[in-house]
Amino acid sequence: MKIIVAITGTSGVILADRLLSSLNDHDTYLIVSDMAERIARYEGVDLDRTKKSAGHSYRENELDADIASSSHSIDAMVVIPCSMKTLSAIANGFCNNLITRAAENILKMGKKLILVPRDTPLSLASIENMRKAKISGAIILPPNMAYYYGPRALDDVTNFFVGKVLDALGLEHNLYKKWKRASGNF
Ligand SMILES: Cc1cc2nc3c(=O)[nH]c(=O)nc-3n(C[C@H](O)[C@H](O)[C@H](O)COP(=O)(O)O)c2cc1C
Repeated sequence: MKIIVAITGTSGVILADRLLSSLNDHDTYLIVSDMAERIARYEGVDLDRTKKSAGHSYRENELDADIASSSHSIDAMVVIPCSMKTLSAIANGFCNNLITRAAENILKMGKKLILVPRDTPLSLASIENMRKAKISGAIILPPNMAYYYGPRALDDVTNFFVGKVLDALGLEHNLYKKWKRASGNF
């Protein structure tokens, strides 16, 4: 698959790093926003290493890149993590950088767009923007906690969120144990 992975300036940059390392067998196009670069430093994520694990890497201002055009056929795009600002731009068709332009292309071509919005609590504007993006065809996949699979460490939580993205992409993985009812427990 040809997959664009975009990282924006929210907490949780590690999620994109983990996703890219799970997409080794695919043709990946990474776009990093300027604010994501800063937050990666605050969160101790080595984005240079992340960029090396992607097939291609772009900055947000490269609006003349090949993937800025819908003629460059892409199968899916994941914005992970997705800031409320980028969510708003995507929901409203505001193509001010390569991330929002590529997302616009994905939506207009009817391909899979997965948004991993991170913020809490949510403003009404963000809730409305999620609704709009959903109506436009995006999959809204917030990194919400679950406890039923028995997480013990932060790594397990990261793997769970990334596993959910891989589920949405339709890709097999072993990042978390899928729910299976144990017989006779209840
Ligand atoms: C340490 C830090 C953490 C942030 N976390 C979030 C967040 O979780 N969600 C969010 O929507 N914005 C967050 N922001 C604000 C965004 O970085 C800001 O809105 C920025 O304009 C997003 O730009 P981008 O979408 O182009 O990367 C955070 C900012 C800082 C400095």
